[in-house]
Amino acid sequence: ELYKEKESLYIALSFARDFFVKNLRTEEGRSIGLSYFKERGFTQQIIEKFDLGYALEGWDHLLTAGKEAGFSEDVMLKAGLILQSESDANRKYDRFRGRVTFTIHNVGGKPIGFGARILKKDKNQPKYINSPETPVYHKSDVLYGMFQAKQAIRNTGNCYLVEGYTDVVSLHLSGIENVVASSGTSLTEGQIKLIKRFADQVTVLYDGDPAGIKASLRGIDLLLEGGLNVKAVVFPEGEDPDSYSQKVGSEAFAAYLEEKSRNFIGFKIDLYRDEMESDPLKKANLIKEVVQSISKIPDPILRSVFSKEAAGLLEIGEDILFTELNKSLLQNQ
Ligand code: CTP
Ligand code: MN
Ligand code: MN
Ligand code: MN
Ligand code: MN
Repeated sequence: ELYKEKESLYIALSFARDFFVKNLRTEEGRSIGLSYFKERGFTQQIIEKFDLGYALEGWDHLLTAGKEAGFSEDVMLKAGLILQSESDANRKYDRFRGRVTFTIHNVGGKPIGFGARILKKDKNQPKYINSPETPVYHKSDVLYGMFQAKQAIRNTGNCYLVEGYTDVVSLHLSGIENVVASSGTSLTEGQIKLIKRFADQVTVLYDGDPAGIKASLRGIDLLLEGGLNVKAVVFPEGEDPDSYSQKVGSEAFAAYLEEKSRNFIGFKIDLYRDEMESDPLKKANLIKEVVQSISKIPDPILRSVFSKEAAGLLEIGEDILFTELNKSLLQNQ
């Protein structure tokens, strides 16, 4: 029974994907949706690769088309495609309206949900509306773009991790295909397991704003705990991988990644370098933070290798660093 329910949700979600994709060819879709994508530099080829689409303005375009195609309201509700009106028990309406759509695929390529972006800034509306949790979409086990990225992740042994849908799409445009997005939420164990199926290294490319840096620090520790080799790159203030790659072009972007990739120790040192030089307390703090991260690494040999590297970079005795590390290890237990 459960299997049958899931199957019907997959079919409804594929129908919705097709519907949104086709909408891009309508007059409204062309003048609003397609021109939005074109303004962002998205090509026809990339639009097709990612099943990008457009949800028409109006309350029930998908609902009506779905019913005509034989889908029950119940299935469309469970798939997260429509919503129940609170004031009128008989009324349902489309969840995604007047927005461009990003299809979220599972690893096998089946549509399991959507992210839908508003077209113009509007303080009263969220920038993105996303599918809810459903029987086929467990957000904590999904990374946006994994279907399109998995082969490249295997081939390169590295997975770039970005925040957003548009970061994934823009990196593909600049020829970087080994990229997935955590979609703005904090990284989970399930997502880390998913990455580990394909690679043992992750390079974190979060937005160059305080929120992005904070999320990087948290993500790095989780990835280390998951036994992954972790690198990170900081972008200039106000830039994210999408904006920066579009601004400087693919060659300069690739060179930037090459030049600015640091392991977690170098990343933390770079982050605090300025304040550290003038304030010994800040330096002590940094040492503790680096040791904290090292203590997350499951492999004792790797811990020891990184401890030596950290002692050298931070210009502090190895013995002191090891003592701190042992304290952290005890605290983690
Ligand atoms: N996000 C979301 N809901 C929001 C804002 C963000 O779900 N209201 C998620 C989306 O997956 C988004 C990601 O968090 O892609 C990163 O957010 P942000 O950096 O604000 O958006 P961008 O991806 O940079 O989108 P854009 O470039 O279109 O502004
Ligand atoms: Mn769930
Ligand atoms: Mn952001
Ligand atoms: Mn962003
Ligand atoms: Mn952006």
